[in-house]
Amino acid sequence: MHKADLIVGLQWGDEGKGKIVDMMAQDYEVVARFAGGHNAGHTIVTNGKKYALHLIPSGILNPDAVNIIGNGVVVCPANLMKEMSQFDNLEGRLWLSDKAHLILPYHQMIDQAKERMRGDKAIGTTGRGIGPAYADKISRSGHRVGELKDVETLFVKIVEYLNQNRPVFEAMGVDVPSENSLKEDLERYRDGLLPYITDTTQMIWRELREGRKILLEGAQGTMLDIDHGTYPYVTSSNTIAGGACTGMGLSPKQIGRVTGIAKAYCTRVGNGPFPSEDFGPDGDRLREQGHEFGTTTGRPRRCGWFDAVAIRHACALNGCDQISLMKLDVLDGFEKIKICVGYEFEGERIDYVPYDLEHVTPIYETFPGWEKVEGIDDYDALPDSAKAYIETIERVSGVKVGIISTSPDRNDTIVRP
Ligand code: IMP
Repeated sequence: MHKADLIVGLQWGDEGKGKIVDMMAQDYEVVARFAGGHNAGHTIVTNGKKYALHLIPSGILNPDAVNIIGNGVVVCPANLMKEMSQFDNLEGRLWLSDKAHLILPYHQMIDQAKERMRGDKAIGTTGRGIGPAYADKISRSGHRVGELKDVETLFVKIVEYLNQNRPVFEAMGVDVPSENSLKEDLERYRDGLLPYITDTTQMIWRELREGRKILLEGAQGTMLDIDHGTYPYVTSSNTIAGGACTGMGLSPKQIGRVTGIAKAYCTRVGNGPFPSEDFGPDGDRLREQGHEFGTTTGRPRRCGWFDAVAIRHACALNGCDQISLMKLDVLDGFEKIKICVGYEFEGERIDYVPYDLEHVTPIYETFPGWEKVEGIDDYDALPDSAKAYIETIERVSGVKVGIISTSPDRNDTIVRP
């Protein structure tokens, strides 16, 4: 049976999936996104041109690949159309599931209003309407991309919804869009997206049957998963491997090799527990050396040490076959490097991720640093201290580190047999 390979983030997002997906996408015939929305993002530079991708899969830069936005994704039509405008003609190369849910203008306003209302308990969302769109989907009052085929009916349903919820919106300070602007927007979305809308479930089954090479591109990271992450400081979708089944219409048996992407240290953007966060000069240095500022929102990322406990948890949840360790070069020049190998929780040492990650204290092992790994593309050429660091990650996580990235350049990548 043919299977689809999968790439997932193992931390709190921003692991550097973009570089690996972009590299791998060159070898795949189909690349698909299965969860999240335009809260994700990375920039790819090819042939001197810069592309900002938030929703469109990275396979778009491989002219021979077909790209799918699956049913598990939430789609903001205006943003998708803006993203599409970076490319000449995507017809036949980009497909959008008719079952994906729409992010409509009021979702974004609700997201931002709710964050304001949470005050110092704010999640620190990207403010893109992701949570409210998924909330409408689950409460069965959302609207699907396929409804754009009949804008008249969709318009009537949305107006009904807005009227029913008007008192709530007013109390939240959310401006309800006027009927005229809503109608115009929906017609614009229909005109821009209709040629791309299809039944992607049938499509991916057909591609698998015909033996095409398929890559499933995860967004965000395992610790932001709605069920298994640091709830409520999470995103609103299943970011883990299981999300690829529901978000594409694949059975677990159709998932092939799983590559988990992890940075050689840890970052988090937004609020919520982050046990190995470093508030001192090392954290600042990681942020500077790693250019740790959000691609979607520009926010400075919180930085800290590699959390091997969280990685083991993530590898188990995703069934990882290998880890791809990113940005090892960012640790160049540190005299000492730490790995969180356990947590102290309620007076005991534990080696798993508990329900309440807020109240654990990290237990570290400290390693001697190294001078420079930047640009190294051969495992044997790595300094012994870097090898010891990688081997500790393998020992604690129980998963082989198969890929190591030593600079943003595609060529500076170690692929171990
Ligand atoms: P939302 O997905 O916009 O609702 O945001 C929920 C949480 O997930 C916030 O902490 C965001 O910062 C975080 N988040 C969402 N998307 C990403 C991402 O692509 N990278 C890193 N963090 C993200």
